[in-house]
Amino acid sequence: MQIVLLGAAAGGGFPQWNCWCPPCRVARQDPARARHRSQSSVAVSADGQRWFLLNASPDVHGQLARLQAAPPGNATRHVPVEGIVLTDAELDHTLGVVLLREARALQLWATDAVRRVLESDSRILPVTRAFAEVRVHELALEHEARLGYRDGCPSGLAVLGFPVPAGPPRFAGEDRPGHTVGLLIRDEATGGTCAFVPGCGGLGDRLLERLGRADLVLFDGTFWTDDELIGLGISDRTARQMDHLPVSGPDGSLARLARLPSRDRVYTHINNTNPMLVEDSPERAAVERAGLRVGLDGMRFTL
Ligand code: MLT
Ligand code: MN
Ligand code: ZN
Repeated sequence: MQIVLLGAAAGGGFPQWNCWCPPCRVARQDPARARHRSQSSVAVSADGQRWFLLNASPDVHGQLARLQAAPPGNATRHVPVEGIVLTDAELDHTLGVVLLREARALQLWATDAVRRVLESDSRILPVTRAFAEVRVHELALEHEARLGYRDGCPSGLAVLGFPVPAGPPRFAGEDRPGHTVGLLIRDEATGGTCAFVPGCGGLGDRLLERLGRADLVLFDGTFWTDDELIGLGISDRTARQMDHLPVSGPDGSLARLARLPSRDRVYTHINNTNPMLVEDSPERAAVERAGLRVGLDGMRFTL
């Protein structure tokens, strides 16, 4: 299985258009010290030609240019995306669905709770269906589903969604189980497994143990500290109140993830305010000392 980190930033991207926080300033003034990143999404493929997206970001068009996407033969149109697996219905993870409407046929894998929000609250599904056929496959919690290509053939990849601690999107009409999940993608041929958890409010022992069984862990690196946005005067909510476990501190994700035996552990969905985005920062050094990496657009893995 090939995995491409298409976008490693949280909603808003890095630098964020309206932000002059310290990392955004470095990114504009000295981009080599704080590399630009697009909004969170991952692509997975068993054959390097046909891809499944894990979340579809508002930056999806630019991101798809990273995939080898030339048409077979001399076809005029070519859609390299066979389907999209969603972790939740947040805008930064789903606006890309409507931006792929020219595909004519799309497949989505989503929990029933996520599908309902897309249907009735953000209305991304009805709007997209006005342009394209959208087949939605239910992602039942804790059940592995096989990812099939649009022609019905199996891809050799399977996905399992598991609940993670988080609240529903703020525009959701209901709070139903399964509104936010983590994903385990498994290559049935190689047995390689990737965990993708871009939004997670806590890391209990059971979840940690589950992540430890994955070869590659792509985990929520949104905030460095719990009071990051409060300290900058741009929000009155803590990271935990926004359902993002901070990276640092004795109960933060870094101390927990440092213990895992996984081959690769990489932070993604990184908010533009997070100081670990700056290459020569002490925060970056602390992440790397613990054996983790700070995600960057274009990182590739083979499992
Ligand atoms: C989040 O990651 O918490 C959400 O994407 C928030 C947002 O959309 O602003
Ligand atoms: Mn987000
Ligand atoms: Zn910023």
